[in-house]
Amino acid sequence: MNFSEAQKRVEFLKEQINKWNYEYYVLNNPSVSDQEYDWTMQELMALETEHPELITFDSPTQRVSGEVSDKFNKYEHQNPMLSLGNAFNLEDLQHFDEQIKELTGLSAIEYTCELKIDGLSISLIYENHLLKIGATRGDGTTGEDVTVNIKKIRSIPLKIDQENLTVRGEVYLSKNNFEKINKEREANEEPLFANPRNAAAGTLRQLDSSIIAKRNLSAFLYYYVNATNDGIKTQSEALQRLAALKFKINKEFRICKNIAEVWDYVQTYQAKREDLEYEIDGIVIKVNDLSLYNRIGYTAKNPKWAIAYKFPAEIVITKILNIFPTVGRTGRITYNAHLELVRIAGTIVKAATLHNASFIIDKDIRIGDNVKVKKAGDIIPEVIGYLPERRSKNAKKWQEATHCPVCHSLLERTAGEVDQYCINSLCSKKITRSLEHFCSRNAMNIGGVSEKIIEKLFNLNYLKSFSNLYELEKYHQEIVGLENFGEKSYQNMINSINNSKTNSLEKLLFGLGIRHVGQKTAKLITHKFLTMEAIVTATFEELATINDVGPIVATSVVDYFKIAENINEVKKLAQLGINMTYHPSTNNNSNKFENYRFVITGTLSKPREYFKDLIESMGGATSDSVSSKTTYVLAGADPGSKITKAAKLNVKIISEEDFNKLLNS
Ligand code: IVH
Repeated sequence: MNFSEAQKRVEFLKEQINKWNYEYYVLNNPSVSDQEYDWTMQELMALETEHPELITFDSPTQRVSGEVSDKFNKYEHQNPMLSLGNAFNLEDLQHFDEQIKELTGLSAIEYTCELKIDGLSISLIYENHLLKIGATRGDGTTGEDVTVNIKKIRSIPLKIDQENLTVRGEVYLSKNNFEKINKEREANEEPLFANPRNAAAGTLRQLDSSIIAKRNLSAFLYYYVNATNDGIKTQSEALQRLAALKFKINKEFRICKNIAEVWDYVQTYQAKREDLEYEIDGIVIKVNDLSLYNRIGYTAKNPKWAIAYKFPAEIVITKILNIFPTVGRTGRITYNAHLELVRIAGTIVKAATLHNASFIIDKDIRIGDNVKVKKAGDIIPEVIGYLPERRSKNAKKWQEATHCPVCHSLLERTAGEVDQYCINSLCSKKITRSLEHFCSRNAMNIGGVSEKIIEKLFNLNYLKSFSNLYELEKYHQEIVGLENFGEKSYQNMINSINNSKTNSLEKLLFGLGIRHVGQKTAKLITHKFLTMEAIVTATFEELATINDVGPIVATSVVDYFKIAENINEVKKLAQLGINMTYHPSTNNNSNKFENYRFVITGTLSKPREYFKDLIESMGGATSDSVSSKTTYVLAGADPGSKITKAAKLNVKIISEEDFNKLLNS
């Protein structure tokens, strides 16, 4: 075949496969056998291998080739990706409707109701007909550019019949695919994904893009950005236009004339939820007429023209087979129920928390009882209580543990406290859990070190303390020789460990796992003291006077650094080159807002979280309500009652412009 014949054939095959992909992945209506599809794909691949110059961006072969990157670039959204306010009952929806009627001056409002797909939101940008960027939401302002991975989702067109478009939607995994992935993970002894959303998010952020192609992610698109500029008048029309452009839209949407019809839709899909192939966690209700959106407006985070009705947490009934204790990183004992398998909110559940011994005693829960189990969002399932009418004679009274389930040392309980603790500082579970916490994202952010790897390295005596992480290179040969651990995973792990050395101090302070020192407290303390040395030597009084750090935290920090082993460990970390100072990345006037208290209200140019983070990174504090302690109220458009209160209390009100001046002064 000469070049021009090959070129024609490639064009023909590409068109053919793209059409089949659309039929299969978007319309759910395939028109060819798998075999014919595979042969055609192979022919196209062969031709492209022979003539690489014929490979184009939109070739279906580009969806299967794998690329491995070491990280994703940040992507700044041109229009922030907002989230939605929530409604939990009919009253909330009626209130939403009334507010819209008031803002528009209209007596009747038409809504589109859509299923709220439980996935993760993405933004797709098409330029010159081609998919240019696929990005995650991130914090709404800045997400990650995951284009290589988005291209692997076959229901997303690489090329469209329109020059430019920004469209948003939800990437999701079907219930079937989710279960398949978890079965595979179970067989490989990998940790299971808690729900399809986590699995989809984990997959989309995979650095090895060939994994995505295998996992069959899909995407529903629902938001045509700036639709009115393209002559679209309603949300329902926007959905139809997206479908015409060959995007996958969710066909279950309905136009409702009033809130009574909306409520009917909500009830219908709450009942149908189980039968859908994908997970939904509510209903999104949007004003249908797009021309009203500007009049209705936005709060700092949400559009006011839409709301998300959240389904109530699902409660199911199952049986307790056994009750067993586990030990956490602080040594606290948690009791869990081993359950007869049950499906809750799309996940198979085999265990649920019973919290602590007093909970079990107060609720008189026994082994063999039928119990109600609840799961809300991605929170761990919990036992709520037993069903007395179904208690059998054989239900067995439960005995509180006296010894640690792992190291078997005697458990202790401080007088007046409900929790029992394992106080053995050498307890292996406490150490491995602390190491896991140290490596977690909000702490030192060391990737490539899973719970299983930590346990393996711990059992081999290579990893017994935080500082040992930074000495693992001594065991290079041994680690590379471990089962399921090649040179590449080793290098990834070591790179990630080394990168963590330069983290700003608050991450290390949080990573140490001092009781009561959460992420926010760690930040407040480091803002104030700036170096580890100053924190180690800080007195109770100095700590307790930091805004929002009370006596309990102060005692805990002082007690922690009274222990010689803890001081030695910190010294060792310093010797190994771990940064011991606070260096905020956003600015270099870290104490600029020390002792300032801001209240943020109204619509600003960026989400409130942005200003909050900025203020906190400069040593300031933010609060939701105005009081005499407030230094400034930062007010955007439509500020509401906080302004009135500020004026009454003589608190200074500043605009975003004033705030920027303050920043730069
Ligand atoms: S509209 C500016 N429609 O729910 C409006 N969101 O709680 C953007 N979601 O961040 C959202 N299904 O990730 C919309 N049919 C749907 C949705 C949907 C799922 C997600 C989305 C959003 C979150 C808000």
